[in-house]
This record gives sequence, C-alpha cells and structure tokens, in this order.
Amino acid sequence: MELRTVEWKDNSVIMIDQTKLPNDLIFVKYTDYNDVAEAIRTLVVRGAPAIGVSGAFGLALAALQSSSENIENLLTDLEKAKKILFETRPTAVNLSWGLEKIMSVAKQCKTVSEIRDTVIAKAKQMAEEDINTNKKMGKNGAELFQDNDTIMTHCNAGALATVAYGTALGVIRATKESGKNIKVIATETRPVQQGSRLTAFELKHDGIDVSLIPDTAVGYTMANGLVNGVIVGADRVLHTGHVFNKIGTYQVAIMAKQHNIPFYVAAPLSTFDLESSHENIIIEQRKASEVTGIGDKRTAPEGIDVINPAFDITPPELISGIITENGIANPPFEQSIKELFEAKK
Ligand code: MRU
Repeated sequence: MELRTVEWKDNSVIMIDQTKLPNDLIFVKYTDYNDVAEAIRTLVVRGAPAIGVSGAFGLALAALQSSSENIENLLTDLEKAKKILFETRPTAVNLSWGLEKIMSVAKQCKTVSEIRDTVIAKAKQMAEEDINTNKKMGKNGAELFQDNDTIMTHCNAGALATVAYGTALGVIRATKESGKNIKVIATETRPVQQGSRLTAFELKHDGIDVSLIPDTAVGYTMANGLVNGVIVGADRVLHTGHVFNKIGTYQVAIMAKQHNIPFYVAAPLSTFDLESSHENIIIEQRKASEVTGIGDKRTAPEGIDVINPAFDITPPELISGIITENGIANPPFEQSIKELFEAKK
C-alpha cells in the first residue's frame, strides 16, 4: 500500500481523511495551517509520525500565509502557528519534534524567501525520511518473527499512522516481504477503532491475512495459543523504556507476559524522549461521545460520566524489545537505548 497519508503538493497539504475510513478513501487539501491543526485535533490525520510530519507541513503553510516582509515578523508568525499546532494533541512527542526541526532551520535563514523555501524543503525531506526510516525498521524487526507466526497488533501503527509503510505494520510488511508466511490478529481498538477501521483496511488492501478481534478477546486468543508474538507502535518512548501508546496497549502487554508471548514495540528515534520522566507526560483525555456511542448511534445512557484516556504507559519489564531504524534495543533499556543514540552520532 504505497498510499501517502500526508504530502505536500502545489503549496498545499494533501491528507487522507482517516475519519472516513474504511468505507471511503477521501483526500482533503489544506492551504491554511489552522485547518491542519484542526485535522490533527479531530483525527483526520493521526499516529505519532504522521502528526509530526503534518505539523511540519503546517508550519510550511504558515510561512506562505504570512504577509511579513522581514525575518523577525515572519519568525513571530511561525512561532504563533507552532503554538497552535503544538496544542492540538499533547502525548505524541513527534509533534514537538517535527515543529522544532522546522523552527531550527527557519532561524538559520538570512532572508524571508529563504525561510519560505527552506521550511518547505525541510518538511518534504522529513516526509521522505519517514518512509526510509520505516523500511529500515521493518527489516530490523522482520528477523524477530518466524514462518507461520501469528502476530497480534493493537491500534494502527501502519502506513496511515506515518507518511507510508508504517512502523509496527512496517515490520509485518517486511516479514511478509522476506518470504515468511504470517497471519495477523488486529484488535478493534475502541473507542475510535483504529484497529478495525485502519489496520484491517490496510492489511486486507495488501493481501496480508488478517483477523479482527474485539479488544476483550486478547486474553482468549493468547490463552488458546493463537498468538506467537505482539508488535505495537509508540507515541513516546522514554530513556527508561517506558512506552506511551494507544489505550489498551498496557493490557495487551500484561496478557502477553502472562502467556510468555514476546511483546515488541516499533518506534523511530524521533519518537524517543530522552529528557522526560513518565510522571511529567500528559495523557490526552478525549471527549465522552467517543465512548458513549459509535458514529451517531448512542450506546450509553444520556449524561453518564466517562473516563476516556487516549493513551497508557507500558513499563519496560513488559517489553521484549524496541525496534528502531538503528537496530533493536533489548532489556535493560536504559543502557541499550543510550547505545542506540550513541550509534546515531
Ligand atoms: O490516537 P492515535 O490514533 O493518534 O494513536 C495512535 C497510536 O497510538 C499509534 O500506535 C502510535 O501513534 C504509533 S504510530 C506509528
């Protein structure tokens, strides 16, 4: 599936509207960074790497939208746009990573037109790098799975969560491309159903054998020996090996540990946050209607209180390995993650 989730074309940002999947494949076009911010907030585009690159493209639009004729005012306009884009979703570190990358190249420019050209070129380069990174990660991770394995995945860490190819689904694609015969079990991933709407859609599109389960059947499938390994993506990986990912990931990891099933995380180095400790990371809380209904059908009593965190934390002791473009980090993670970044230098 070489569809591009987000791209730059004719000074506009083109995205797949993921809220319409799997029933309609619709592309939306933006020329205003405020619309890109709204697209991130409302999950038209979602997934840590895709949000990171979308933020970068948003700043490129802001550079074109600004009527400033001097560097100082243009940088002020970019800072304003950066704040609006950054405040859309708090948990995935790729958003701040993408925005900071653009701001740092903008600040090195000498003229207004150089800023405009440079930030557009940088954002486009980040999109290309995302795909190359996913393919490298795919190859690294494909070694971990055997012929005839059934691999479980949670949420969508596929082409639709990146620019293309995917992180966890990139490893699944690369395992298949390496000639191994594999099957996939995808969890529905309530409340927004990224598993049933997006992962099942992508893998079926690519002819990869995929079965869908309700989130409540994870234990059953593991207890009945239907799962050989698990692979998920990440929104933020700390230097300790704590992994922030879609709500429910922690439960899947506990179940995998209970049944001695290897549990892997695939995440590019851009998703690592080496500074923070897990108490300081904001877990996004989303609107109640995501839980009290499906689409426009109400499935809970009017006015019921709802707790709807979008992400949870999986501690390092539940993780068998973290797959990156620079290799695989194995426990103990404080040491192996440090080595991965040193290797990057
Ligand atoms: O709320 P979402 O759909 O943005 O959550 C996405 C996830 O949790 C993904 O697993 C994660 O971003 C990794 S994407 C490669």
